[in-house]
Amino acid sequence: METEKRCIAVAIDGPSGAGKSSIARDAARSLGFVYVDTGAIYRTVSLYIFDRGIDPKDTGAVIDALPEIHIALRYGEDGLQRMLLNGADVTERIRLPEISLFTSAVSGIPEVRAFLMEMQRGMAREQSVIMDGRDIGTVVLPEAQVKIFLTASPEDRARRRWNELRERGTEKGYEDILREVQERDYNDTHRSAAPLRPAPDAVHLDTTGNTFEQSRQQVLEIIRRHMEE
Ligand code: DC
Repeated sequence: METEKRCIAVAIDGPSGAGKSSIARDAARSLGFVYVDTGAIYRTVSLYIFDRGIDPKDTGAVIDALPEIHIALRYGEDGLQRMLLNGADVTERIRLPEISLFTSAVSGIPEVRAFLMEMQRGMAREQSVIMDGRDIGTVVLPEAQVKIFLTASPEDRARRRWNELRERGTEKGYEDILREVQERDYNDTHRSAAPLRPAPDAVHLDTTGNTFEQSRQQVLEIIRRHMEE
C-alpha cells in the first residue's frame, strides 16, 4: 500500500520589508524545509510584462501574455532560490526598485494570481515548505500547519530597505523609500483579489525594533511549538 508522505507547510505572510524572506530562508535551513519566496515568483511574471512594455493597467494585455511565461525555481548550492524566466536567470533583475512597484500592480490582477496558484500548491504537496507571501495562509495554503503574520512599522521597514539598497550600491532617499513602502502597503491591502490580511488562525509577530536574531528565534519558537501540537 502506498503511504502518503507527510509534508509540513509553514505560511509566513506580511507586508513588504518586514523581514519575511531572510527569516523564512534561515528558518527553512534550520528545519530542513524548502524555502519558497512567492514574491519572487510574482516579480518574475511582472518582469516579463515590464520588458514587453505592457501597462499593468491594461489587464487584457497582461492576461494575454501569461501563456508566454514559463517560470522555474532553482536552488543554488548556497540554498538561495534562483528565478528562471523562459530559461534566463533573472534573480538579480527582479529586485530592481522599479520592478517592486510594478509587481504590486500586476499582482492585483486575479488572473495572474490564478496562473500562479497551482504552481505554489504543487510545491507544498511535494515537500515540506516555508512559503512567504501575502496570501499564503489565507488562500494558497489555508491548511498550512503553521501560519505566521509578520509585521513591522512602515518606518522600520523603510529603514531596512534603505540599508539593503545601500549595501547593493543603490543610493535612494529614505523619504522616497518610506513613500514607496506605504504605497505598496496600500495596494497590497486594498486590492480586491487576495488582499494582504492575516489568516484568522495566524500567530501575529511584530518585529519592530528587533534584531534579526531575535526575530529568527521567535519564528523558530512558533514553528516548533505548532509542530509539536
Ligand atoms: O514580497 P515581495 O516584496 O517580493 O513581493 C513583491 C510584490 O508581489 C508585492 O507588492 C506583493 C506581491 N505579492 C503578492 O501579491 N502575493 C504574494 N504571495 C507575494 C507577493
